[in-house]
Amino acid sequence: MFIDISNLKKSYTSGVVITEVLKGIEMKIDKGEIGVILGPSGSGKSTLMNIIGGIDRGDSGRVIVDGIEVNNLNDDKLTDYRREHIGVVFQFYNLVPNLTVGENIEVVSNISKSPLKNTDDVLAAVEMQDKKHRFPRELSGGEQQRVSLARAIVKNPKLLLCDEPTGALDYQTSRSILRLLELVNKKFGTTILMITHNAAIAAMANRVFKLRSGQIVEDVVNQGIVPAERIEW
Ligand SMILES: Nc1ncnc2c1ncn2[C@@H]1O[C@H](COP(=O)(O)OP(=O)(O)O)[C@@H](O)[C@H]1O
Ligand SMILES: [Mg+2]
Repeated sequence: MFIDISNLKKSYTSGVVITEVLKGIEMKIDKGEIGVILGPSGSGKSTLMNIIGGIDRGDSGRVIVDGIEVNNLNDDKLTDYRREHIGVVFQFYNLVPNLTVGENIEVVSNISKSPLKNTDDVLAAVEMQDKKHRFPRELSGGEQQRVSLARAIVKNPKLLLCDEPTGALDYQTSRSILRLLELVNKKFGTTILMITHNAAIAAMANRVFKLRSGQIVEDVVNQGIVPAERIEW
């Protein structure tokens, strides 16, 4: 089991009000799988992903990723975990605005333990090699997301987390990003966990988790996986 989560709970406190955001999450994903978390806004998707990625901490329960008990790591070890194991793609790309495309990739490559050696190959994989010297503001949304994906995979992460990666993109551009995620999964064997609120996208996943108000209400093993190329919505 690559991701193994049991009874994960998380609350936020604001003044005297305590909001329970994750209410005992159970989730298992095998190595090399694509998992999708489906759920409406506010259901706890990003909170769950941030805990899996070592960006946030759960209050209780067990979160094991590739044999590492993430919730028990001290701050330094959690930083190492995030740096060495996790790649993240966000809805709004989060590129460094005053660095070129190539530099955005290289800063991540330089601090990674076992990066993919050739930045140009990674840019070629997302069809952005000819934009290497451009700045993010000179790119379309879809191009920025491709760079963001390249930046996440140059680390050669064991786990790629994508938080609504197509949420800001049009239909065709979304499909090209989904195709690239599939390519990364196949080519590098990267386990992928993707958040979306688009149920159609779940067709390309091995496992689908439906989240409602902090609980997994459905956990489906997908029998007939549809390639991103053929998904329509
Ligand atoms: N840092 C925080 N402080 C307080 N409440 C938060 C914080 N982050 C998220 N929440 C609350 O937790 C709930 C789940 O948020 P989130 O995980 O972002 O949901 P989703 O990604 O599914 O939209 C929401 O009600 C949100 O307001
Ligand atoms: Mg979210």
